[in-house]
Amino acid sequence: MKYTAIANELFVTNRRRLSVLLKPRSVVVLNANDIMPTNADGTMGFRQSSDLFYLSGVDQEETMLVLFPDHPDERFREVLFLRETSEMIEIWEGHKLTKEEAEQTSGISKKSIFWTHEFERVFIQMVFEAEHIYLNTNEHTRNSSEVETRDVRMIRQFREKYPLHQYQRLAPLMHHLRAIKQPVEVDLLKEAVRITEDGFRRLLKFVKPGVWEYEIEAELLHEFVRQRSQGFAYTPIIASGANACVLHYVENNRQCRDGDIILLDVAAEYGNYNADLTRSIPVNGRFSDRQKAVYQAVLHVMKEAKKLLVPGNVWDDYHKEVGKIMESQLIGLGLLDKNDVAKQDPDNPLYRKYFMHGTSHFLGLDVHDVGNKYRKFEPGMVFTCEPGIYIREEGLGIRLENNILITETGNIDLMDSIPLEIEEIEELMNS
Ligand code: GLY
Ligand code: MN
Ligand code: MN
Repeated sequence: MKYTAIANELFVTNRRRLSVLLKPRSVVVLNANDIMPTNADGTMGFRQSSDLFYLSGVDQEETMLVLFPDHPDERFREVLFLRETSEMIEIWEGHKLTKEEAEQTSGISKKSIFWTHEFERVFIQMVFEAEHIYLNTNEHTRNSSEVETRDVRMIRQFREKYPLHQYQRLAPLMHHLRAIKQPVEVDLLKEAVRITEDGFRRLLKFVKPGVWEYEIEAELLHEFVRQRSQGFAYTPIIASGANACVLHYVENNRQCRDGDIILLDVAAEYGNYNADLTRSIPVNGRFSDRQKAVYQAVLHVMKEAKKLLVPGNVWDDYHKEVGKIMESQLIGLGLLDKNDVAKQDPDNPLYRKYFMHGTSHFLGLDVHDVGNKYRKFEPGMVFTCEPGIYIREEGLGIRLENNILITETGNIDLMDSIPLEIEEIEELMNS
């Protein structure tokens, strides 16, 4: 991994925060993500399970973490399993964590670190002291993957092997904890944002008529990786002209033309934490009057929405309120008619024709991070704020997206130094 080591206090604290949410006599088992195959002997890059990382800091495949906070034997309260290395692995893949290094990374005592192939032998000494077994599943409301994770395979095996234990869902507890970012996590997010800002500022000097969308992608990746990011936080959207109206456009293969706006939904990850930025800039460095008007409308919605990202507010009310602000902007732009709006079906408001996605999502170890939408906004939560207007008939799409940390007294915009106002963008593009 390219990032600088993270002090293990974060992971020690996270385990402590989880332990107080568990029922007495509980054992928790978490698995690393699989390395996903492609074709032949190809694989995708490794991405650690966010929950396992959150509780251990171990960023290596085939890792398992077992927590049993009230086990009578102290050695079995926090147990880590690591992939055992060999001469062959060292030669072909390189270095794997030693037990000493894993102790340093996670804060788990070396005495409680074993090799993954020893799991059965060690776990059998723990499991019969437990009444409850917490296992993990991907309870993200947008998840629709058909691929079985290690966690899912484990659930099947465990239910056969230990049929009389009480099984519990770990995911709601993880969502509860991960929704509130610890100060160290905020620092990691800020680093991802800082690298993203450098990438965006680089683009302001680079973009001009004739540039290809993929050249912009390459430029950004260069900036991100040279600053110790693994790369993009998500597949970058570099959408010029009408492509900006395709919400998940990822082809990035068109030439940018004089007069187009280019929508850039591009951000870096750092230490597994993700920024999520969108800017919409004119390819030739100057907005037309129409582009300015739409841009100012989106910016107005963003500024108003940010005011609502404060403690005590709730998801549905927030989104409803933002919808109303957007509605009046769309009327102002001549895209919606006031009389039609007055008669609209409130469950299917007309603004959705031009603004068809949500305004915010949780952000953190995952881009669409975990968190419960019925929980009131609390200090420590981080949300995106990303209104957009997409006018297919004009081949014009504008979205703006910043990352907002909720605080006791309101919020902090983690992206407030990234150019956003029209004048600043034009000035930087033409300097
Ligand atoms: N970049 C993904 C999103 O904005 O949600
Ligand atoms: Mn985004
Ligand atoms: Mn987003």
